[in-house]
Amino acid sequence: MEIKKVGIIGCGQMGSGIAQVSAVAGYSVISREIEDAFWQKGFARIEKSLAKFVEKGKLTAAQKEEAMGRLIGTTKMTDLADCDLVIEAVIENADEKVKMFKEADKTCKPETIFASNTSSLPIGDIAAHTSRPQQFCGLHFFNPVPLMKLVEVVRTISTDDATYQAAKGFAESVGKVVVTAKDSPGFIVNLLLVPYLLDAVRAFEAGLASREDIDTGMKLGCGHPMGPLTLLDFIGLDTIYYIAEIFFDEFKDGRYASPPLLKRMVNAGLLGKKSGRGFYDYSA
Ligand code: 3HC
Repeated sequence: MEIKKVGIIGCGQMGSGIAQVSAVAGYSVISREIEDAFWQKGFARIEKSLAKFVEKGKLTAAQKEEAMGRLIGTTKMTDLADCDLVIEAVIENADEKVKMFKEADKTCKPETIFASNTSSLPIGDIAAHTSRPQQFCGLHFFNPVPLMKLVEVVRTISTDDATYQAAKGFAESVGKVVVTAKDSPGFIVNLLLVPYLLDAVRAFEAGLASREDIDTGMKLGCGHPMGPLTLLDFIGLDTIYYIAEIFFDEFKDGRYASPPLLKRMVNAGLLGKKSGRGFYDYSA
């Protein structure tokens, strides 16, 4: 299965990052959003990120332009019809993802492989709504996609070998290290990461230490690049809240229950870096 053309549904933080690394690796990329303004915003983010790589001498100005030239934005799912691989990176909501894949299933050629970038939803449950569960897998990238080296490739009980190999080969071809996981909520990384982040919120809520000291403790005590509250702001509090709800629903285990403070912050629109305020203030 040779992959040449990649369709990406959703051009937010994750979708634009996946579009970027795919275009840099030489793939033709079609990015589908619900409004032109959304993919345009995503492409502006890609341009800025590529400019950083040029500034650092990791890419030439010509390579940047070539990569930008491989990107096409659209609002029509039908434009993804002849893609060899379609990766979905929309909001972490099962109904929304199923809706996207049902539309893509109608329009894409029979050979097209489908992959979800879901961080927490069972992929087999989404795949079951399409006519091609055997050609369906998970490709879970990490934020920020252009910098983070890992991709989790997720095989469902229906994923066939050819699809798994093609998806793994694709992730490696965009410069990522692949780990393979079963189709269990959170796969490897989020299953371990999310309870840690929720515990950090609980510790802060209980008044254990200041936000800065919790972050400094984990940065300098464990060698993490970011403390947990900074990382929560970076990922988005709403995203972690949705993931925690999905885990709790699946495992019925208190470790995954959302701390009240997280819920209050999400309901108040304090979503982290993207909204200008979370555990820290980014308005300046
Ligand atoms: N494109 C290009 N360059 C970028 C960039 C991007 N998208 N983002 C940051 N950079 C550059 C910065 O501009 C900076 O350049 P400079 O050295 O010239 O100033 C350089 O990369 C390093 O960035 P920073 O100085 O801001 O900070 P760090 O050295 O801490 O590196 C980081 C940034 C790689 C994000 C690092 O802090 C890190 O690894 N943080 C943890 C991230 C993490 O854990 N991500 C996973 C989240 S979980 C997830 O995604 C799963 C999901 O399902 C929830």
